[in-house]
Amino acid sequence: MADSPSPLPALASLLGPAGLLTDASDLAPALADWRSLYQGRALALLRPANTAELAEAVRLCAAAGIAIVPQGGNTSMVGGATPDGSGRAVIVSLARMNRIRDLDPMDMTMTAEAGVVVKTAQEAAAAAGCLFPLSFGGEGTAMIGGVLSTNAGGNNTVRYGNARELMLGLEVVLPDGSIWHGLRRLRKDNTGYALRHVFVGAEGTLGIITAAVLKLFARPRANEVIFAAVRDAEAALGLFRRFRDNDESAIRAFEYMSGDGVDLTVQLIPGVTLPLAERAGHYALIDLASTRPDADLRGLAEQVLAPAMESGEVLDAVLAESEAQRAALWRIREEHTEAQRKAGASVKNDVSVPVSRVPELIERASEACRKLMPGIRPMPFGHMGDGNIHVNLVQPEGADPTAFLARSHDIMDCVNEVVRELDGSFSAEHGIGQLKTDMMEEWRGGAELAVMRQIKAALDPKGLMNPGKVLP
Ligand code: FAD
Ligand code: MLT
Ligand code: ZN
Repeated sequence: MADSPSPLPALASLLGPAGLLTDASDLAPALADWRSLYQGRALALLRPANTAELAEAVRLCAAAGIAIVPQGGNTSMVGGATPDGSGRAVIVSLARMNRIRDLDPMDMTMTAEAGVVVKTAQEAAAAAGCLFPLSFGGEGTAMIGGVLSTNAGGNNTVRYGNARELMLGLEVVLPDGSIWHGLRRLRKDNTGYALRHVFVGAEGTLGIITAAVLKLFARPRANEVIFAAVRDAEAALGLFRRFRDNDESAIRAFEYMSGDGVDLTVQLIPGVTLPLAERAGHYALIDLASTRPDADLRGLAEQVLAPAMESGEVLDAVLAESEAQRAALWRIREEHTEAQRKAGASVKNDVSVPVSRVPELIERASEACRKLMPGIRPMPFGHMGDGNIHVNLVQPEGADPTAFLARSHDIMDCVNEVVRELDGSFSAEHGIGQLKTDMMEEWRGGAELAVMRQIKAALDPKGLMNPGKVLP
């Protein structure tokens, strides 16, 4: 069969010089992932200015049989936005589609284009006296289309839910270039299959999200941040329960950190210090927030901490006294990723288990990895309140990073064996991308994977949308 003619001339006249880049230096940042695990190649980087342009570009690519890799902020932890090495795909960046089309403080909704950076969405909501609650370390770069496509979680999921729960409607360019106009801002809309949810978490394999209606919330007016040293992970979970029993509505984040993780962060990140007199083996960071300006969150914190300290579950704790201190306590948690990056090669395991089993996960997975590779440094941390722990493993000190990374899958298998025994999931919030496709058959095989494949075949029969991602 003769090759289809290249769509590049037609794309160039459609998108103009700002919308079609082919120079190697322009493409380079889009060809590697944030973790530097993957290096791809591409025909071109498309940067459409609006939905109509994007739809026409997709139509041209579909006609020519050219695969498309959608890309937002390129912060994927699983290589989801990185093309393969064939050089036959185009990358579609949503970065220029970055308008906030509408913000309504009565409906409590924001209609944002896919290229709006998460932090910009937070700031726009705040300027209107509202809250857009999605928050995580990559928020200054990740974009609305990306966080919806991965169904990102982050620090406030325990209170407001994942990205999926923050979305009411979508506009999507489908793989044939047609546009689905689903930007409804309705709180109730039972009209057949909830199509919008098919695209959330699809990681760009079913179509390109071009805009979304996002839910906004009332802005908190009172806030307390607590950093506590706890006896063990069980005691950290016990503290979560104490807060929940006293006032569940006040918990905005409940995060766990290991002593080794905090030590590494203090050691490698300038300006991060331990705010307690003595080092501990385990810590919790609790963020309390209320929309009531007169909410006595300090009283709540003291009421919960006093008995926990008396019983020996909490060893010591500090409450932030100012905005600067709140930020400093949060930095200890948020700089974990960067500290691990600086410490050499690391293997990430973004896993979840039922909340009650988190302590067992931390204990058993760390132990199993130490047995597998003496000297390996387990750094479990993360969203304890959601049952989602990042069981990250840093290479043994002085080891060869390449040799360590060559054993990534052995290490992931080792953690996943424990996760399976605890009825958990091998991917909690980062998605599948290209890192975990080989695990899909084993974990989601049978009817579940068969239905996923049927959905893929129905929407993208030519298999052109982000090939090699999610589905094995
Ligand atoms: P990209 O990386 O560009 O793309 C991600 C996936 O979505 C790819 O498969 C891509 O093809 C697809 N995609 C992108 N845009 C679109 C679109 N418009 N339409 C269709 N498909 C699209 N994640 C969490 O969940 N919780 C955390 O706590 C967290 N912490 C992080 C901390 C740091 C420091 C970093 C760097 C990342 C963190 N992440 C976290 C991971 C990451 O930020 C998320 O996966 C994010 O959701 C990806 O958004 P993005 O815009 O960068 O998307
Ligand atoms: C986080 O919660 O900080 C990231 O999702 C975790 C990671 O770096 O693995
Ligand atoms: Zn996380």
